[in-house]
Amino acid sequence: MKKNIINAPDLNKTRKRNLAQEVRIIYDELVVPDIVQKKAPGLKFLILTYGCQANVRDQEVMEGMLLQAGYTKTNNIKNAALIILNTCAVRENAEQKVLGKLGSLKSLKENNKDLIIAVSGCMIGEPVIVDTLLNKYHQVDLMFGTNEIKNLLNYLAKVYQNKEVVVAANDDNNDIVELLPSTRLSSFKAYVNIMYGCDKFCTYCIVPYTRGQQRSRSSVDILKECQDLKARGYQEITLLGQNVNAYGKDLKQDISFGALLKSVAATSIPRVRFLTSHPWDFSDEILEAFLEYPNLMPYLHLPIQAGSDRILTLMGRRYHKNDYLNLITKIRLKLPHIAISTDIIVGFPNETDQDFMETIDVVKKVRFDSAFTFIYSPRDGTPAARMPDDVPYKTKSQRFISLVNELEQIIEVKSQQYLGKTVKVLVDGVSKNDPEMLNGYTEDNKLTHFKGPKTLIGSIAKVRINSAHIHYLLGELDAA
Ligand code: SAH
Ligand code: SF4
Ligand code: F3S
Repeated sequence: MKKNIINAPDLNKTRKRNLAQEVRIIYDELVVPDIVQKKAPGLKFLILTYGCQANVRDQEVMEGMLLQAGYTKTNNIKNAALIILNTCAVRENAEQKVLGKLGSLKSLKENNKDLIIAVSGCMIGEPVIVDTLLNKYHQVDLMFGTNEIKNLLNYLAKVYQNKEVVVAANDDNNDIVELLPSTRLSSFKAYVNIMYGCDKFCTYCIVPYTRGQQRSRSSVDILKECQDLKARGYQEITLLGQNVNAYGKDLKQDISFGALLKSVAATSIPRVRFLTSHPWDFSDEILEAFLEYPNLMPYLHLPIQAGSDRILTLMGRRYHKNDYLNLITKIRLKLPHIAISTDIIVGFPNETDQDFMETIDVVKKVRFDSAFTFIYSPRDGTPAARMPDDVPYKTKSQRFISLVNELEQIIEVKSQQYLGKTVKVLVDGVSKNDPEMLNGYTEDNKLTHFKGPKTLIGSIAKVRINSAHIHYLLGELDAA
């Protein structure tokens, strides 16, 4: 099949940040190309999303565009005329999952030549992956990166019209496109992007390449979206960005993250959260916002990544262990009840036992309420991937196991504090394993299961906790 490489992934190009050039905000309405408008009615699409909340939000936008073009959504892969794998590149195992799924889609494609298979998301930012897909995965018709979602319908038009494989990794301009249509996967919880991209360039991380330069949305547009969600009865908004508290630093005239947080909370939507904070950009104004607005949920995700100063420096994290510990002390002094979670990577190149013990020391000192733990995965093109590494994988996995054990012991003890207490749970739905049980999250983000009527889904219920576990709480509806 003919190949149409509109723009190939290029790590050198995406590494560059053009801070002098002002970001354009585009308010044009979506145009549906004729051929797509003709083809779409009667065709069904399915998007499978991997990775983080940014990808979930991207799925909603892609769905909005496809519905507006006239496609309908299906959950049955066999009925789909268009399948999009919306991918994550953060670690190798995330990519393996996608490649495995693509393998299993091959026979679907062989039996249905009209089926279009597209791969979107962060993997398309990586030259090695795009090469692999072009050379070995001939079932793929279209590849488009995170910055190319706005052009999805135009690329589908090319695939239909020219019967060619289209690759559009990331266009050069850093526009923010505001008026793309979008669905919402939940009718009571919503993600709101406040910024795109990341300029931190932690040495292990692929995200600044796959999502490009940091671009903050205008606070006016963000607030409009939040107010609209509030008017539609949404109970919870999570403000999204790879580095939310750097919000606004790329804008000439706008507001800081702390001020934005206050104005979003002032809409009085019942619950406001945000993800992810970087310790380096954490300001006192954020703490003030928490003190001023009780609808800012008492939960903070603050990745530390490692405890050793030597490793933190190699990671390019811009803080030392004591800076982090001091920040936690300051946060807890002002907000004693806030739950704190983190991300930790073990097995960064040449991490010694001593380095690793520094991570364990932070875990013991901070006593996190939850944590996401990862074994370092080299990402092609990042500075860390070029660092020689003499630590055997077995040592890394042993460290990983002892880290998880340490965290679990702490979290188990900490979770006992919920016993006998009544907590407020925003009810998400019915538990997978038991149709009698509902589940949802407390204000401080603990997963909670309890028995109750389905009519509670989407509302905030009071639940008395009678059993506490590492990863969840069990309780019963509080009649009071
Ligand atoms: N922007 C967010 C999230 C980035 S990705 C932040 O800065 O916190 C989520 C987590 O994946 C990171 O916090 C980090 O712990 C982990 N991660 C990123 N790159 C990784 C890699 N190459 N290997 C292992 N874990 C990685
Ligand atoms: Fe990756 Fe660091 Fe940016 Fe987070 S802050 S997305 S870890 S480069
Ligand atoms: Fe993965 Fe991209 Fe998110 S790499 S973690 S989907 S930003």
